[in-house]
Amino acid sequence: MPPAAPLCSFRGAPLARMIGTSNFGRGLDLLPKRAAPSSTKPATGGNSGRTAGRRVALIGFGTVGSAVAKILSEHPSPVLRLTHICNRNFERKKQPWVPADVLWTDNVDSVLESDVDIVIELIGGLNPAEHIVRRALESGKSVVTANKQLIARHGPDLLELAAKHRCQLEFGASVAGGVPVLPALRTGLCGDRLHGIAGILNGTCNYILSRIENARIPFSEALEEAQARGYAEADASEDLDGGDARAKLAILALAGLHARVAPESIRARTIRPVDAVDFDYAAQLGCTIRQISRADLNANATDTLLAEVGPCLVPSNSPFGRVQRNLNLVLTSGQYGGDMAFLGAGAGGDPTAVAVVSDLMFVAQGSAASGDGAGPVFTPHVSHDFETAWYLRFFVRDQPGIVARLAQILAAHHLNIDSLLQKPGFEKSSLPFVITLEPCRDSQLHPALEDISRVDFSVRPCLCLPILG
Ligand SMILES: NC(=O)c1ccc[n+]([C@@H]2O[C@H](COP(=O)([O-])OP(=O)(O)OC[C@H]3O[C@@H](n4cnc5c(N)ncnc54)[C@H](OP(=O)(O)O)[C@@H]3O)[C@@H](O)[C@H]2O)c1
Repeated sequence: MPPAAPLCSFRGAPLARMIGTSNFGRGLDLLPKRAAPSSTKPATGGNSGRTAGRRVALIGFGTVGSAVAKILSEHPSPVLRLTHICNRNFERKKQPWVPADVLWTDNVDSVLESDVDIVIELIGGLNPAEHIVRRALESGKSVVTANKQLIARHGPDLLELAAKHRCQLEFGASVAGGVPVLPALRTGLCGDRLHGIAGILNGTCNYILSRIENARIPFSEALEEAQARGYAEADASEDLDGGDARAKLAILALAGLHARVAPESIRARTIRPVDAVDFDYAAQLGCTIRQISRADLNANATDTLLAEVGPCLVPSNSPFGRVQRNLNLVLTSGQYGGDMAFLGAGAGGDPTAVAVVSDLMFVAQGSAASGDGAGPVFTPHVSHDFETAWYLRFFVRDQPGIVARLAQILAAHHLNIDSLLQKPGFEKSSLPFVITLEPCRDSQLHPALEDISRVDFSVRPCLCLPILG
């Protein structure tokens, strides 16, 4: 394995390469191999004169499900035929543009017992989605899903189940919505040996952070604005505290690094304490702040995956630094192919539906996986002990000797100060200033932060962010 180069070493570089992949003919890498579909049943029944094709049932007619149905209805495919739409209380969901021969139902059992070939699961959540997907696969029906929580927790098991029953499980929309990063990892890049993946995977966090950056508004105001515009839910904890992004990172680690990791084993730091003043200090360092999800195979300990999610300083002119609003960006680093970038809409009904329909077409195409023989999936020890430079921001009650005391604590832990930044014009009762540290491991910094948390002049907990460069 090559040394795991840091993924954010793109200071000043243009976006490495924007990849668009076709879903046709892609092979499956190390995951259980995709089996060719057991049959291609002609569509039966119906009165619309629509072409025959693989029979498709859609379960969940919400934001993404309705967008999928719209694409399938407006652009009928010769290889796909939507036959069922299943949603609780479906009467209120009915749409005039859905072909008349599509059967609307709220009975999941009747769908799973029918002769459909492919089930699209778009209800979200773990329950009853997991049960539905398992039952579909056990009865030999291929499944397409956008459900990140389900795949992050049960992806490897479900892929095995699909292989056992000679059907397919596709989940290209579960990470980065409409950005075809998962298909690319599983086909276009499967000939490489990837050693690192990093991304802006949560559009809500990116919207909030880029709004604070551009308008210098408080975090609470940026959150309210995101909620008002529909970019954040009323309870946005999963997004803000990193739960959503780490589930996506676990899926990327599986597809690209062949590492099977539980999302909970990945440390997630919240973006809530990030303040407008942090963007002033970050700018002084040539940086901005983004929620970054990163996973690196550890070159020194081959059974270890370094992984974490949280706000980081990134160079303003880097690909990460330039991502605005609710866009997603994923960067990969490979031993042979070098760095790649994938940028686009990480959410939204239509972009996500494109990914779902692309998966459907791949399944309908019936291509068997080629496999690349690159090795098995492994279960690593997950660590967040990255080595980086650090940004420490303090809010203190001003008094003599503060810097000396902090320097003393840092020196006692053998940590080297790189710079000290203090903007004028703040109240002495709550004065923000910043210390940056030369690179050290997280584990080396942690005990110093514990000592710092006990000083009596802090009026807020110290904010500690990695500086990726
Ligand atoms: N929205 C995005 O931008 C996006 C992006 C990427 C991935 N995804 C994933 O795509 C999936 C769907 O997301 P979404 O935004 O479309 O969700 P959504 O708008 O909440 O739609 C879910 C639909 O499923 C129905 N439903 C829920 N539980 C059901 C059950 N037990 N039986 C039958 N119907 C049920 C809901 O009915 P009710 O109307 O009664 O609630 C609703 O119509 C999720 O896994 C999500 O994580 C979404």
